[in-house]
Amino acid sequence: MKNIVLIGFMGVGKGSVAREIIKHSDYIAIDTDDLIESMENRKIKKIFKEEGEEYFRNLEKKIALWLEKSLKNSLISTGGGFYKVENLKKIGTIVLLDSPFDEIINRIKAHPNAKSKLKKRPLLSDLKKAKSLYNQRRPEYLSLADIVVDVTNKSARECTTEILNKVRRYA
Ligand code: S3P
Repeated sequence: MKNIVLIGFMGVGKGSVAREIIKHSDYIAIDTDDLIESMENRKIKKIFKEEGEEYFRNLEKKIALWLEKSLKNSLISTGGGFYKVENLKKIGTIVLLDSPFDEIINRIKAHPNAKSKLKKRPLLSDLKKAKSLYNQRRPEYLSLADIVVDVTNKSARECTTEILNKVRRYA
């Protein structure tokens, strides 16, 4: 089994979908933000604040090289900016979770932990800036994706079925 790499904008549901996929498949899940937090023993927000974004991006690059060399049969959920690493396509099949910006924000706001979901993401603190980041990134996400799944108004379970079917057909 080739690795599956979930990419997509902050808050689109990569984590929830990853947790659902592993319930219904033999994949083992790993999350790039979790790896960074455990390597650094501090939260992403703190890393951004204390070291700056470039430092964080360099950690993503380091992790990307390790993933390419060391991981098989795994489902990798990534931070929204991870797709920029040079070797992304060598890590596995790239699955984009896609949704319009406003839908993503509504989805976060509807969550019982909405406040903490917004607070932990430094690049979502200014919604105007976040929207322009989304507009800049979306074509880049689309051009890198092997598989695109529109997640708007779909449950994690529905997304999982669609992803596993599409991955099987793609392989
Ligand atoms: C980022 C997304 C975040 C996290 C960091 C930067 C981004 O992950 O990696 O705050 O550049 O889009 P999520 O996509 O899980 O929110």
